[in-house]
Amino acid sequence: MTGVGSDAPEPLLTVDGLTLRFGGVHALDGVSFTVGSGELFAVIGPNGAGKTSIFNCINGVYRPQQGSITLDGARLDGSRPTAIANRGVARTFQNIGLFPAVSLVDNLMLGRHHLMRSGFLSGMLWWGRARREELEGRAAVERVIELLELEPFRHQPAGLLPYGVAKRAELARALAMEPRLVLLDEPVAGMNHEETEDMARYIVEVRRELGLAMILVEHDMRLVMDLADRVLALDFGRVIATGTPAQVQRNPAVVEAYLGGAA
Ligand SMILES: Nc1ncnc2c1ncn2[C@@H]1O[C@H](COP(=O)(O)OP(=O)(O)OP(=O)(O)O)[C@@H](O)[C@H]1O
Ligand SMILES: [Mg+2]
Repeated sequence: MTGVGSDAPEPLLTVDGLTLRFGGVHALDGVSFTVGSGELFAVIGPNGAGKTSIFNCINGVYRPQQGSITLDGARLDGSRPTAIANRGVARTFQNIGLFPAVSLVDNLMLGRHHLMRSGFLSGMLWWGRARREELEGRAAVERVIELLELEPFRHQPAGLLPYGVAKRAELARALAMEPRLVLLDEPVAGMNHEETEDMARYIVEVRRELGLAMILVEHDMRLVMDLADRVLALDFGRVIATGTPAQVQRNPAVVEAYLGGAA
């Protein structure tokens, strides 16, 4: 068999006809796309286009009025956020989601808390399953600290980390959950050029080492064009283009969406 279709891998994530309204505002209007396992899929669009809303639907914080979200053949939509996290979906937040007074390493352990199955009592008594889960958790956290070169900062309270490091720690918190799919919401927002280059390098490294799928929401077009396998462009909650970075970049509707306000 030849042809583009037969080479396409089975999608890990399928989003079909997602529609989300807040009163009269259509945050999302019939949004459909797929993400392959190991794929880096970017979502771009002007402010308010609905990018973060897609993430909030995927991880169960928002309930879309219409549409379906399927991970590995099973429906995600309708599940609670913790259940969705347990299925292997982790996210980073546009505004850093770490506990500021807690050390970096403890933030990463807390990020895994939903994975702990042992009950409170056995956890207190440090027995059996609780102990094993704690040790597995420590190992996963240490792997992520090493991968993202966060060792020098491990004992610092998250609130005192330099901004670029805090954004990396935010990525680490998501990865410590050992996800299959990571949703990255503006990982380089507010970063200077050097910090952006660093983050790009870490994202590439994470892909290579962990092979997980990622959805990247980002306003930094150069980063998107450098890193993404495919790009989806949104405007007013609607998909206006999907394709390779090069295809989307020269799509007239995308050019119009970005320049329209300025013209
Ligand atoms: N909880 C909410 N209540 C009401 N309206 C909301 C809510 N969340 C999002 N919206 C609206 O939905 C639309 C899409 O918002 P969203 O945050 O998804 O945009 P975005 O593409 O992430 O924008 P940005 O680039 O500024 O982060 C906006 O009009 C926004 O005001
Ligand atoms: Mg957003």
